[in-house]
Amino acid sequence: MKIAVPAETDDSRVAATPDVVKRYVTLGATVAVASGAGADARVTDAAYKDAGAEIAPSSVDAVKDADIVLVVRRPPPDVLAAMKKGAIVIGALDPFGDRDGLKAMADAGVAAVAMELMPRITRAQSMDILSSQANLAGYQAVIDAAAVFDRAFPMMMTAAGTVPAAKVFVMGAGVAGLQAIATARRLGAAVSATDVRPAAKEQVASLGAKFVAVENDEFKAAEDAGGYAKEMSDDYKRQQAELVAAHVAKQDIVITTALIPGRPAPKLVSADMVKSMQPGSILVDLAVERGGNVEGSKEGEVVEVGSVKIIGHANVAGRIPNTASLLYAKNLYTFVDTVLINKETKALEPKWDDEVVTSTLLTRDGALAHPKFGGPAEKPAAQTAA
Ligand code: NAI
Repeated sequence: MKIAVPAETDDSRVAATPDVVKRYVTLGATVAVASGAGADARVTDAAYKDAGAEIAPSSVDAVKDADIVLVVRRPPPDVLAAMKKGAIVIGALDPFGDRDGLKAMADAGVAAVAMELMPRITRAQSMDILSSQANLAGYQAVIDAAAVFDRAFPMMMTAAGTVPAAKVFVMGAGVAGLQAIATARRLGAAVSATDVRPAAKEQVASLGAKFVAVENDEFKAAEDAGGYAKEMSDDYKRQQAELVAAHVAKQDIVITTALIPGRPAPKLVSADMVKSMQPGSILVDLAVERGGNVEGSKEGEVVEVGSVKIIGHANVAGRIPNTASLLYAKNLYTFVDTVLINKETKALEPKWDDEVVTSTLLTRDGALAHPKFGGPAEKPAAQTAA
């Protein structure tokens, strides 16, 4: 069994680290890593070699004859074309993006696994790339804001005078938002946060931040219903928007992380709200690649509105590529170890019927395989039985 790790052309991360290469070798695999694949994440060819990998002169050479190909992004056409039919390609394959690209993977005859579609069940937590990378993005968002902020984060009482704590507001308290809250708190900021999921209130409070929401009877009813947010009334949304607008005007730093899976990001901060902020304030829009939460944010740019900066870095986890690769590589390893390899015979034996495979498999045997992404629709139970 051969596992290949091509070099990414459009990402600083790498899909395997020397640590997981050792583990793949223990599972009975030979591992081929394209020369330079880890360079941007500061992992040398020598480190891969020491871990037991062969170094291939190019990505095309690495993937030849490979049974499993580990990637961060969708492989480019030349690398895809070099793969053998039936190879299992595992990565962040962007199922919601460019449909022609999905078709190209089907046409190449590979089994493409989009790790973003991993179900959020306890067993799959260690394979959840969205969580591992969002957590780092939340951390890095605060670091990026602090790096351009011209004031200190913590309150300091010094002989020369008292410095007030920076005020940080986090919008969207999911995985990225909660880590942003924790990081800003560690730096000493006064932190507040909001989310549409009532369950987030307790998580925000447990990190020592203030939850900002209109907590009327409607909110309390939604909170009692538990779990995910339900659609709120227009009146509630208006009151919440007014509260948030007044709050944003008083903040030094706003970090937005609100996403809705498969849909454009909700617009949470209007141009007027940006203008209402004090000179020197910073916004970080972690949703920028999905359309953005902040009006005026631009992917890959730092936009200045007066002296307010809107940071719109793309691939924020990739800004700390060494740590991001460490966790990403471990997510992929756990998937391979759990559902692709028979540990006793050390043979490739994919569990095609396992939920973590059926939920993530985009293409197989020359066709689109996922019911939500062009594959055959799920059959109703009665038909399946017959
Ligand atoms: P996400 O990245 O899709 O969204 C980020 C956050 O934005 C969410 O908390 C969402 O409620 C919030 N949001 C959406 N629209 C908003 C709006 N208009 N205003 C304010 N906030 C808005 O979500 P993420 O971070 O991937 O996960 C959400 C939750 O799922 C987490 O809190 C976590 O507890 C849970 N989760 C469970 C896992 C498991 O059981 N294996 C794994 C990962 C997350």
